[in-house]
Amino acid sequence: MTVDPGEFIVLLGRSGSGKTTLLHLIAGIETADEGRVVVAGRSLGTIGDRERTLFRRQHIGMIFQSLNLIPTLTVRENVELRLELNRSRDADGIARGRALLDHVGLGDRGDSYPDVLSGGERQRVAIAAALVHDPDLILADEPTGNLDATRGTEIVTLLDQLVRRDGKTLVMATHSLEMIGIADRVLTIEEGQIVEVPGDPSRPSDRERRS
Ligand SMILES: Nc1ncnc2c1ncn2[C@@H]1O[C@H](COP(=O)(O)OP(=O)(O)OP(=O)(O)O)[C@@H](O)[C@H]1O
Ligand SMILES: [Mg+2]
Repeated sequence: MTVDPGEFIVLLGRSGSGKTTLLHLIAGIETADEGRVVVAGRSLGTIGDRERTLFRRQHIGMIFQSLNLIPTLTVRENVELRLELNRSRDADGIARGRALLDHVGLGDRGDSYPDVLSGGERQRVAIAAALVHDPDLILADEPTGNLDATRGTEIVTLLDQLVRRDGKTLVMATHSLEMIGIADRVLTIEEGQIVEVPGDPSRPSDRERRS
């Protein structure tokens, strides 16, 4: 598969088909036994672990299906940790973190610990944490899986804006067929193969409608 900069890709496939695995491969969290993963010109299989980790911290924002929050850190600390790992915990980064927490409706929960939050609230912290360092490539693994319809729509609108307004690239795994309408392209994993789902030729893509 090839993803162009500025594209919004939706990744479908039944449970266990390999969506999370594919996102982890693109993020360089797992390495491929066969084939190549090239991100922004870097072949992730040929660089060392440390370099791959640094590359990911800088360029990629991964919204994990398993959320990956640190239980002993508060909401705000979980978000700012991504800046610290990246050595970019400056005033801009901190302001971006606050704005993101406000945006996901958790502006007043910065001092809470993850274990007192609901599943959906935790998911929203994970989203803020994945975006705080302003990554070029956003990998979102069922980012609305724990959210009610209204919050889900807000999150998708936020992600969509990051693509349309800020030129970010987004690959989003989801089970929600409603996302098909807003994506530039839809891919599905079927029996280990990545297959492009053809668009409806009578329907102009969102991108064309917006431009
Ligand atoms: N660390 C692992 N080691 C071995 N097999 C794994 C590992 N992680 C996942 N798998 C297997 O790989 C397959 C794909 O898993 P994956 O998590 O990528 O699916 P998925 O499409 O994200 O599913 P879901 O929609 O349920 O999140 C599954 O059969 C799973 O059991
Ligand atoms: Mg998964």
